Amino acid sequence: MSKNENNESQIASHWKEEELIHPSNLFAKQANMSDKNIKNKFSLENFPNYFKEYSDLISWDKEWDNILDSSNPPFYNWFVGGKLNASYNCIDRHLLKYGDKPAFIWVPEEESEPDQVITYNELYKRVNEFAALLKDFCKLKSGDRVTLHMPMIPELPITMLACARIGVIHSQVFGGFSGSACGDRIIDSESKILITADSYCRNGKLLDHKVKADEAVSHANSNGTDVEKVLIWKRYQDKYSSSSSIVQGRDFFVDELLKSYEGQITEPESMNSDDPLFLMYTSGTTAKPKGIQHSTGGYLSYAAGTSKYYQDIHPEDVYWCFADIGWITGHSYIVYGPLSIAATSVMYEGVPTYPDAGRTWRIAERLNVNIFHTAPTTIRMLRKAGPDEPAKYKYNFKLMTTVGEPIEPEVWRWYYEVVGKKEAAIVDTYWQTETGGFIGTTLPGVEPMKPGSCGPGALGISPIILDENGKELPPGSGSAGNICISNPWPGRMQTIWKDPERFIDTYFAKYAIKGSKKWQDWPYVTGDGATQSSDGYFRIVGRLDDVINVAGHRLGTKELESAALTVQSVGEAAAVPAVDALKGRVPELYISLKPGYENNEKIINDVKQAITANIGPIARPSHVWVTSDLPKTGSGKIMRRVIAAISNFVDVGDTTTLANPEVVQDIQNFVQNEKKKLGEIPQDISKEVEEEIKRFGSQDN
Ligand code: PRX
Repeated sequence: MSKNENNESQIASHWKEEELIHPSNLFAKQANMSDKNIKNKFSLENFPNYFKEYSDLISWDKEWDNILDSSNPPFYNWFVGGKLNASYNCIDRHLLKYGDKPAFIWVPEEESEPDQVITYNELYKRVNEFAALLKDFCKLKSGDRVTLHMPMIPELPITMLACARIGVIHSQVFGGFSGSACGDRIIDSESKILITADSYCRNGKLLDHKVKADEAVSHANSNGTDVEKVLIWKRYQDKYSSSSSIVQGRDFFVDELLKSYEGQITEPESMNSDDPLFLMYTSGTTAKPKGIQHSTGGYLSYAAGTSKYYQDIHPEDVYWCFADIGWITGHSYIVYGPLSIAATSVMYEGVPTYPDAGRTWRIAERLNVNIFHTAPTTIRMLRKAGPDEPAKYKYNFKLMTTVGEPIEPEVWRWYYEVVGKKEAAIVDTYWQTETGGFIGTTLPGVEPMKPGSCGPGALGISPIILDENGKELPPGSGSAGNICISNPWPGRMQTIWKDPERFIDTYFAKYAIKGSKKWQDWPYVTGDGATQSSDGYFRIVGRLDDVINVAGHRLGTKELESAALTVQSVGEAAAVPAVDALKGRVPELYISLKPGYENNEKIINDVKQAITANIGPIARPSHVWVTSDLPKTGSGKIMRRVIAAISNFVDVGDTTTLANPEVVQDIQNFVQNEKKKLGEIPQDISKEVEEEIKRFGSQDN
């Protein structure tokens, strides 16, 4: 394929412009930000001083001297010279005024189990005691890393905040990930301590979680990383709910250890603004997940500011972010953002539709939730399971948000009309693990909404769309390109853990003027395609790299392929996205076998199993197609766009430049016939999704 043949700068946008919808006056009147002039204050000519507005939301042990040190781009330090503690900011400073107010309301999945209400006073006590344990029993000190592999139980934020209290860098791995995925992250972060839970409830089942810790530790050990201690929180008090046996001298029950730390106070460690607060691993284009490193001062200020102005959280609100703390959304918008502004944050353990389609709305009604934050995949699921359910419940949302993947305008409208009862404002918040907080969204008290578009850049963020040659595509150009952020901001990642070169390569190399010391020469490359309409609103069209967004979670094709290649018989593997009505995309795997192996059902199951074991059930492919060969370029690279087109019944385009064009028809006949038999012909693939499929993997070729 020629270099420009599938150039995303040539992607046209096909959708019709949606109409603007204005939030109600009622909402605007009470909004934390209703100053129509605010965008001017946050315009680039006032950069970087406008971010003082965010740092002012934080209590500093020592005020900062310099707002931004940008002398070594793309590595920036925000609020230089400032000292603070994140746990103090999320707990201690609220005690006087809000001590008896719930910080968390934890809702277990089983409806018969009572909620756990944790007031700020109670949170203070529990975080202090656990921090004392970490310091004394685990000998942890500021700068050490600890891996957490925890489900959605209240002990997860308690653990994060206890780490933050003593300056320990936490690295929480999504609870649904496998033991070996957790092990990889232990190795990379060099954690000596793993904190886990015995079990958790999901879709009516009690899942055994501690078994994954055993796997994670042995995986890490076999790669030379010795995990000294595994701390286990129990899902049910005084009852160990796992089949895994306790390894003496390594495994410890937290509730038993805590008895020695009853009532202990652990002074918060005063951290430098640029000391790392946590790592969060995310998928990229290679098999090795990247440890995204976030700072203390910059990150916390940004999480606090965006929670206040975009989620519009007031201390008297009941705010429910329906996400998992194992992802960045939960870090920024269940824990650090809301707590830093004294919110009541609801945490739910289970799935939205358990035991029935009304569950989510019952929780909202019972707890008087008035701010609701979730992902398109959850919205689609709720819409499918019970399109008329919301009307049966008397909750009152003033604001709702959507995050994680593009939302289709018709799903947006159901959210607005049926869930929000045409009263709630919606913010479609575009961001990434790397960005720490929202980067593209409307400001709900000031700007109107547009279904399917996230809106303009967030306050102080200046997005631009660049074509392949680095030329800026102006608003209303009708073309999509690479959406980049032209300026630094406090919530942005500091670097990739232990890999500054990869940080530069992944996020800057494409357009940076290397050697320049001016931040203006280092636009941050998101990896997403987007278009901008003439009113300045952005519409995200999906990833431009080899990442598959499954239900709002990023999976790298190389991670999936490497897992498939662990199966003895598999010679080659390629992962592509298939359109799915609920999850957005699901992975499909194409494999060819090593010589001497015959295709059979066992191989297919082994590949699915290997992917589930290496990554987690979320990555399980919907299909594994065994083919005699895969379409390749002259240089031997697998052309994922061709098989992606086949999986989605989209035109495969020009295949004449392939080294083996003859295989395409065979694969197409085989896969599409099978899918037809199963009734899996995708319906109504829009033009923009078609474009996404056609360019899939194009950066590789
Ligand atoms: O492709 C974009 C998509 O999700 C990616 C980031 O995924 P992750 O780091 O897991 O963080 C998810 C939660 C922030 C982005 O590169 N994405 C995120 N938000 C939106 C979105 N796509 C469209 N609209 C959004 N609002």
